[in-house]
Amino acid sequence: MLDARTIDIVKSTVPLLESANTALTQHFYQRMFRDNPELKDVFNLSHQHTGRQPAALFAAVLAYAKNIDNPAVLSAAVERIAHKHTGFAIQPEQYAIVGHHLLETIKELAPDAATPEVIGAWGKAYGALAEIFIGREAQIYQDNETRAGGWRGTRAFVVKQKRVESEQITSFLLVPADGGAVLDFKPGQYLSLHLDSPALKHREYRQYSLCQAPNGENYRIAVKREQGGVGSNFLHDQVREGDTLQVLPPAGDFFMEVSAETPVVLISAGVGQTPVRAMLDQLLSQSHRAPIHWLHACENGAQHAFRADIRARRRAHANLHTHIWYRAPLADDQPAEDFNATGLMDLNKLREAISQPAAHYYFCGPLPFMAMVKDTLSGWGIADEQLHYEVFGPHQSL
Ligand SMILES: Cc1cc2nc3c(=O)[nH]c(=O)nc-3n(C[C@H](O)[C@H](O)[C@H](O)COP(=O)(O)OP(=O)(O)OC[C@H]3O[C@@H](n4cnc5c(N)ncnc54)[C@H](O)[C@@H]3O)c2cc1C
Ligand code: HEM
Repeated sequence: MLDARTIDIVKSTVPLLESANTALTQHFYQRMFRDNPELKDVFNLSHQHTGRQPAALFAAVLAYAKNIDNPAVLSAAVERIAHKHTGFAIQPEQYAIVGHHLLETIKELAPDAATPEVIGAWGKAYGALAEIFIGREAQIYQDNETRAGGWRGTRAFVVKQKRVESEQITSFLLVPADGGAVLDFKPGQYLSLHLDSPALKHREYRQYSLCQAPNGENYRIAVKREQGGVGSNFLHDQVREGDTLQVLPPAGDFFMEVSAETPVVLISAGVGQTPVRAMLDQLLSQSHRAPIHWLHACENGAQHAFRADIRARRRAHANLHTHIWYRAPLADDQPAEDFNATGLMDLNKLREAISQPAAHYYFCGPLPFMAMVKDTLSGWGIADEQLHYEVFGPHQSL
């Protein structure tokens, strides 16, 4: 429990934080990677170059300072970040390193404001937050280790099958090298691969949503080749069937908690279909009674991964309604059979069908796409509690 004085001092630094903005976290990461270069093997350096991780950290630090007297407001964010941390195998002793660089950053960027009192208060506040993360992460690690099929740290998985799903997306079926069972997960969650090869400059963690429902025996992920991307090109070009990958247990706070009577609307674009496919598998296998809508957008038939599979499901399940947009169909793409509309997804066209008051919406895709989905659904008056989304990278609020 933080004392009132500490809370007041931390709150008084909010304007200072706001004026520094992401310069604060950019500086923090620069000095941390300079002094602790071993952490370059932990962080996703592409997210540093794009600025998305410094932005995510800044948003978290600012939200903490603003809500330090009411930390319950932060519980959803804490849960998401703790899961993300476990996907990078973050350890308790690393919190002291981060805390040190955070305090030094404040001193270096705001030498006048960084009085011993301010630094003392931030030190205490950081310690309290670190304790919350360390505690929650310890629970997740413990739970992953003790549940059936579970493990701690990385575990070797063999690539049993590598299957081309579309021009850019290839799926990987992963089975444990030790022949044991695997942990169940909540559809929507992701695996983290720890890529380590002489072909890579650094060891890299990359997250991939599990794209089929749990079966206790194996996992399937589907990876889009990203232009210039380190991990995806490595997986597409260097990893072959029979090779071994190091895998951390499933993680993530994007999953469904709905009754069989809840209408569910799944909305995806491109490779963002991976988590919602697993959700769909789960709903169909549990004989979900309410209507299920899946709205998907992609470029054309050649880039439409898993398209035969979704056709088969549509035929087999009367309560599954799919609607597919191709931005620019190819000459041999079949309207009605492969896709229903041309151009970008337009939710307003389906408003009557999908805007039931009790529905829950799960969406995933590029950030501008998800912002469009969120704005449209919010514009229809749908409450935030019914909207759930996953960002394929450092989290950003829509
Ligand atoms: C929860 C979660 C789930 C995910 N699920 C999936 C999934 O199911 N399928 C999937 O395919 N992906 C998924 N992702 C994304 C995935 O983790 C990777 O981010 C993605 O594969 C790209 O990684 P990469 O190593 O190929 O690209 P990176 O090397 O990370 O590069 C990403 C982009 O940044 C650019 N870039 C990198 N460094 C620089 C630089 N120095 N200067 C300029 N530009 C630069 C690259 O050119 C590239 O376009 C998920 C991510 C998260 C967080
Ligand atoms: C109280 C301290 C910390 C806070 C507030 C914090 C905050 C965050 C936030 C907001 C994210 C993004 C989460 C998301 O995308 O959903 C994140 C990711 C991450 N954090 Fe932390 N973190 C803390 C401590 C640490 C520590 C001690 C380490 C270990 C060195 C660490 C390593 C990472 C890594 C590797 C990622 C993923 C980065 C990426 O995707 O590029 N964090 N953290």
